[in-house]
Amino acid sequence: MTTPPPIPEISPEQWRSRVAAVLTRARDRSQLLTDAVDDDDLVRQHSPLMSPLVWDLAHVGNQEEQWLVRDVGGRAPVRQDIDHLYDAFKHARADRPSLPLLGPADARSYVREVRDKVLDVLSHSPLEGRRLLDQAFAFGMVAQHEQQHDETMLATHQLRAGGAVLAAAPPPPGTSLPSAEVLVPGGPFTMGTSTEPWALDNERPDHVVQVAPFFMDTAAVTNGAYMAFIDSGGYDEAAWWSAAGWAHRQAAGLTAPRFWQREGDTWWRLRFGIREQVPPSEPVVHVSFHEAQAYAAWAGRRLPTEAEWEKAARWDPATGRSRRYPWGDEDPGPQHANLGQRHLRPAAAGAYPAGASPLGVHQLIGDVWEWTSSDFGGYPGFTAFPYPEYSLVFFGPDYKVLRGGSFGSDAVAVRGTFRNWDYPIRRQIFAGFRCARDPAPGEVR
Ligand SMILES: [Fe+2]
Repeated sequence: MTTPPPIPEISPEQWRSRVAAVLTRARDRSQLLTDAVDDDDLVRQHSPLMSPLVWDLAHVGNQEEQWLVRDVGGRAPVRQDIDHLYDAFKHARADRPSLPLLGPADARSYVREVRDKVLDVLSHSPLEGRRLLDQAFAFGMVAQHEQQHDETMLATHQLRAGGAVLAAAPPPPGTSLPSAEVLVPGGPFTMGTSTEPWALDNERPDHVVQVAPFFMDTAAVTNGAYMAFIDSGGYDEAAWWSAAGWAHRQAAGLTAPRFWQREGDTWWRLRFGIREQVPPSEPVVHVSFHEAQAYAAWAGRRLPTEAEWEKAARWDPATGRSRRYPWGDEDPGPQHANLGQRHLRPAAAGAYPAGASPLGVHQLIGDVWEWTSSDFGGYPGFTAFPYPEYSLVFFGPDYKVLRGGSFGSDAVAVRGTFRNWDYPIRRQIFAGFRCARDPAPGEVR
């Protein structure tokens, strides 16, 4: 049961080409997201929740400079004078537009200069001898960081007023699933990882967790199901909401997912500058934890815990082993999951049969982040690495854990063990949810 998934040994040369590929993929995406709008749009703050896009771009370059040029490479700083402007802990997002930030042209040439140095560092680094270097960890961390900001920039695009500037093919169509829920047997499973090379500190170490039997939905809650919750008066019935959720629903005047608008009997939404009817078969997205929890209570169900989510995603009943992904140990491909901004929307249930877990749970990876009922915290034996500001300072009851990644998450930044966290009121992220339930008395022996 505790046997870790096989991680193939690869040579430093193979690590170098893998790193170059993921860094290039991240930069291509950053460029696409920042070249899609003009300079005015790059420096504007589209929502107090978000940084100007030009801040994200230079912040990505500045983190890359600090970790890979200065620390790993031991090279002279490129722009140490701007470190403080791009320190996410020094300036709240709402204050960032008033800082003397690099303008669009300077930000672009800065990130290019840093990247050129990093590729040189990569070709000379032994990729061993320090924990930051082993299995190219620091490079993998920096690539994940850029992709995480790319997803944040995609959320900024969703908040931006004005016409569509991004385009992508639709995801594959849904197919019918044999059942709406599956039983996840009780018993121990291995949660987290001690072997995944680029897993972050909060995913470590692996440890055995006991999970009682429960039923997990095979698909995320759809827009159509969520409309039924709205239509039945779910937003007006305090009984479905937690005390904190109801207080927030009242204060914020919530009546529907963010970006939805009702006209007569029809729900419309804005999606990356396009106004369209809300498609009933797609997973609901842009709902807060509180809304997810209220829906689940209304439906006579509940949100899964983080451990339940991970067991449903990784546990293989045939071997008792936890896999890297629901479909196995293979890295995500386009057949497995809706990831990497290949599509600008989540896919309907059953669109990725090759990505299902052995128990028959679909689309745990990709499409929409899934709210869990768990607070963000450290696993037994947690040690902060490479610095406490990565995860440790966020541990506690203020943040809820989200799992699985969205259509806007890149494969390098999503794993069966990957943990995201956010405030329970947040709705601008690409988050939805699926439900779980306890067995009825006598239902499971
Ligand atoms: Fe960051």
